[in-house]
Amino acid sequence: MTELFSENNRSGLTRDLIQALFPMFEEASAGAIAVDRESRITWINSSYAHLLGLGNPETVIGKPIRQVIPQTRMPEVVETGKPLLLDIMEHNKQQLVVTRLPFYDDDGQIMGAVAFVLYDDLQPLTPLVAKYRRLHQDLAAARKALAKKTRGTRYNLADFVGASPAALEVKRRARLAAGRDMPILIRGETGTGKEVLAQAIHAMSGRAHQPFVGVNLAAVPENLLEAEFFGVAPGAYTGADKRTRQGKFQLANGGSLFLDEVGDMPLALQAKLLRALQEGEVEPLGSNSVTAVDVRVIAATSRNLEAMIAEGSFRSDLYYRLNVMEITIPPLRDRLPDLGVLCEDILENNGQGPEVRREITDAGVAALGSYDWPGNVRELRNVLERALTMGEDGGQLDANAIFRVLPRGGSRPDPLLVLRPVKSLAKTLANAEAQAIEEALVASRGNRTRAARMLGISRSVFYEKLARMS
Ligand SMILES: Nc1ncnc2c1ncn2[C@@H]1O[C@H](COP(=O)(O)OP(=O)(O)OP(=O)(O)O)[C@@H](O)[C@H]1O
Ligand SMILES: [Mg+2]
Repeated sequence: MTELFSENNRSGLTRDLIQALFPMFEEASAGAIAVDRESRITWINSSYAHLLGLGNPETVIGKPIRQVIPQTRMPEVVETGKPLLLDIMEHNKQQLVVTRLPFYDDDGQIMGAVAFVLYDDLQPLTPLVAKYRRLHQDLAAARKALAKKTRGTRYNLADFVGASPAALEVKRRARLAAGRDMPILIRGETGTGKEVLAQAIHAMSGRAHQPFVGVNLAAVPENLLEAEFFGVAPGAYTGADKRTRQGKFQLANGGSLFLDEVGDMPLALQAKLLRALQEGEVEPLGSNSVTAVDVRVIAATSRNLEAMIAEGSFRSDLYYRLNVMEITIPPLRDRLPDLGVLCEDILENNGQGPEVRREITDAGVAALGSYDWPGNVRELRNVLERALTMGEDGGQLDANAIFRVLPRGGSRPDPLLVLRPVKSLAKTLANAEAQAIEEALVASRGNRTRAARMLGISRSVFYEKLARMS
């Protein structure tokens, strides 16, 4: 194969191969164009002409390509003879993914270059770009986790971003909770930062240098939960480990135990948890002795525990035990003033280097405020990440960039739009026309011939329009 493409064998087989490949490329791409040695357009296919908004493709033949596509790098390819296999070119606010290849005559002299538009929007590449960014993010998160490893938590109170009165109240209560060694119940919809807050409370508490251990009750299969919580004694059942397996209670000893999604706890386990909390001791599976444990429980839930108690799926005694101090994190739609600082924080910490850091415009933030955020801050993070993968590097995230990635539906009516309802284009044009006609009549003091001339239309058309108006 290498020989086939070598310098001195550009003819014969190679040419056949190229001729076979070319139609395929042209067909599959969103457009193709060729230039000569002087970078003048020699050929353009209809899909590219259409993409560029050219009425008649013939009119550009012979023109320098820069005149037609100012951002093009074709002259560079012709000059250097080096292909640009993958490039992103912006044309009329559109991002095009392009490949540019030089071509040679039989003597190996450069004759010109051909370019293919592989994609006319970046959508198909989004998974790739998103994966790249995610890897970057994971790296940043891993570094952060490493830095905070001594504390056992990833977050502290500064990571709970927000300056609205509602957010400040949450922080105030978190500080209060941190100073007292009592059980806490954190409530809030999905993605509101319950885990962030739980870790922050631990990190501020007197137990900060002890472990923070989390159990997600929705994620562990029911039959494994008991062992997960209380541990397993050696040889408790056939196949059990020879050594004691510690449960989360023992692992958290001295520190904090985070019961995430506590509303998903099966009733049988609720009884055992209650006993452990009341007695301050746990009994590993298959053991007949108890171990004393000292943990501070921080529970979190997005469920309506009171309704669960009413229907009998949550024990009220456990509820009172867990809910000594309650912190409710309001949903993002109720603290929209925080959108700006949240965006700033997310864009700052999303793993991009400072050279490509991107900002959001005020209109971009306002656009975010038009949505009601069922997934809260987590969803905001996802939306911003999607916006980043779509736009060009370095550009600001404006309202347009946001609306392109904001889920449709679920948006709240904008009060400004309610005051000024949008009319159909036909109606708007008709109104404008009627107004122009009236103004012309006033200016010509009722002289219709003069009014028609002022408007640049014939008398008959003027009469026709006038008749339609009345
Ligand atoms: N106030 C906040 N400031 C900064 N980041 C936040 C805030 N709230 C949530 N986040 C971010 O949103 C994401 C979800 O947060 P977290 O896991 O704490 O939410 P949760 O309430 O536990 O959600 P779920 O109920 O779905 O488990 C995380 O990436 C977190 O960093
Ligand atoms: Mg959570």
